[in-house]
Amino acid sequence: MMLDNSKSLFDRAKKILPSGVNSPVRYYYPYPFFAVSGKGSTMLTADHDRYVDYCMGYGSLLLGHSYSTVNEAVKSQIDHGSLFCVPTEAEVQLAELISKAVPCAEMVRIVNNGVEATTNAIRLARAFTKKKKIIKFDGCYHGAHEYVLPNLGSNGDISEGILNEVYSQTLVLPYNDSEKLEQVIKQDDDIGCVIVEPVAANMGLVLPEKQYLNEIRRITRQNDIVLIFDEVVTGFRLALGGAGEFFGIKPDLATYAKAMGNGFSIAAIAGKKEIMEQLSPSGKVYQASTYAGNPACVSASIATIKVLNDAKNDIYPRIAKTCDRIVCGIRDALRNFKLDYVINNIGSMYQLFFTDKNVKNAVTAGKSDPVLFRKLYDELLKRGVFIPPSRLETCFVSYSHSEEDSDKTVESYFESLRKLKESL
Ligand SMILES: Cc1ncc(COP(=O)(O)O)c(C=O)c1O
Repeated sequence: MMLDNSKSLFDRAKKILPSGVNSPVRYYYPYPFFAVSGKGSTMLTADHDRYVDYCMGYGSLLLGHSYSTVNEAVKSQIDHGSLFCVPTEAEVQLAELISKAVPCAEMVRIVNNGVEATTNAIRLARAFTKKKKIIKFDGCYHGAHEYVLPNLGSNGDISEGILNEVYSQTLVLPYNDSEKLEQVIKQDDDIGCVIVEPVAANMGLVLPEKQYLNEIRRITRQNDIVLIFDEVVTGFRLALGGAGEFFGIKPDLATYAKAMGNGFSIAAIAGKKEIMEQLSPSGKVYQASTYAGNPACVSASIATIKVLNDAKNDIYPRIAKTCDRIVCGIRDALRNFKLDYVINNIGSMYQLFFTDKNVKNAVTAGKSDPVLFRKLYDELLKRGVFIPPSRLETCFVSYSHSEEDSDKTVESYFESLRKLKESL
């Protein structure tokens, strides 16, 4: 597929941006398309193509691109200032809204992005328990920082430039295996926290098996270990109160980002008062940021959460229904063409794996055929549908996706899968 404008922009970008991009998932061979604008469920490209978008800012745009209520809130704020670095009432209002929506959020600290939220949640957990080690799960991604880079999700390799001393304090266990977790915890009394994506969205989409999250909760509670739900993807998406509400489980701490700002850079750490109070300046866990609580992003987040709260009985069932229509359509097409597949889906998220094995952790997700997936990506793009280019990402449906979008998407999958089958 020749995307001439994107190609020449990429040639220019490569000269000044390492690999031509500002985040690795954005690059794929031979070059990615460049975006110009987004509205609702679609994105317009530098090559004048309009794609129905299922990447949606990797899950950030729950309401859709350029959602007017959020835009209006930001526009009206920036006329009154974009940064004060002293407290504002709006920050208090946002924290109150989060606390009302999220069952575990006795206290909240507003930060700028997912990586800041998880770094500081882990720091808090270590300080609170006075224990050094942390447990994360193979294939879960918690941001590009030292504590959690071993076995990151999203198909990345282990990063150089991180001290072995740091690596050695992070234990990586298989997802969906609570027996292994209990066994490791029984043998090691220096574990301060377990961090988990309650629904894993960075090894494709992997759902927690029945009782898995309950078991993690039981094991961590019995062993005085802080449980962190990384809800950067699931927060405000799976339900207003995120996975905590959806599964009825209260972690000690949780991190939020993406959907809470509908495309604006804002995040939060939330959790038990006795842990949150360890944050500086009252406590001894240092966390700080010039842009935390900046008025533009706070106003975007307040507007987003208000829309979600006011229309929750319409929004969550509607996006789940749209997602189900798409998943059912893809299943029908795959049965037709007799290709091995697994589709995992929950709420407004889905992913298709080209494998015949149940996908329940990083190892089984990794079995999904990358060549077939890449062909599918290209074929869908030709038909005006944009999904994340990696098989180890997740497709996201927004409130702006219409029935026509889902019909077009199903048709595009059908035609694309037909092409794939013919190419085998
Ligand atoms: C579950 C999860 N946690 C944390 C992060 C890091 O968030 P950010 O990219 O905003 O730093 C991501 C990013 O994709 C994520 O999916």
